[in-house]
Amino acid sequence: MKTFDKLKSKIAITFIFKCVFLITAIGVFGCGEKQAKKSPQLPLKAEPPTLSLKKEVRPVIVTGKTRETYQWYCAQCHGIKGKGDGINAKFLTVPPRNHTKAEYLETRTDEQFFQAIKFGGLSVGRAPCMPAWGNTLNDSTIHELVRYIRELCQCEAL
Ligand code: HEC
Repeated sequence: MKTFDKLKSKIAITFIFKCVFLITAIGVFGCGEKQAKKSPQLPLKAEPPTLSLKKEVRPVIVTGKTRETYQWYCAQCHGIKGKGDGINAKFLTVPPRNHTKAEYLETRTDEQFFQAIKFGGLSVGRAPCMPAWGNTLNDSTIHELVRYIRELCQCEAL
């Protein structure tokens, strides 16, 4: 009877060992398989962000719309042809700038023109009767107007 019990427990122990071995094997290989499946995805390289830091510099082009804007907003003082003889000119204490006269305009930079148009004459140390257009015209339109004035005076900043 005792030997039978011993045999029984021996069988039981071997059974338990087999089970443990099987479970471990499944565990190890199972994981191994999963890792093997995962591994090809791991070397996914992080693509560098395609952010171009270069600032796009677009040329400012004077169009029919630019000339129209000048006629609509500027001509009453600066004149239809930009000669400073608009219908309002005689009512101003400081005469509107003649935009066809190169001698003065070439002493001023495009930035000064831009500022004068956007923030008014005072912002560049000129008369306040040159109004500010920053609330009426957007920056690109103002850049175009600067180019248009350069066309009128046929001059560039010295
Ligand atoms: C109410 C009249 C008036 C209107 C409208 C007007 N201007 Fe003027 N502008 C003036 C006067 C006056 C001056 C001269 C200021 C001075 O010499 O001190 C001037 C000067 C300028 C100057 C030269 C600034 C400098 O550096 O001396 C520029 C550029 C200019 N105007 C652009 C424009 C543009 C563009 C418009 C239309 C969007 C416009 N102006 C509309 C009255 C006007």
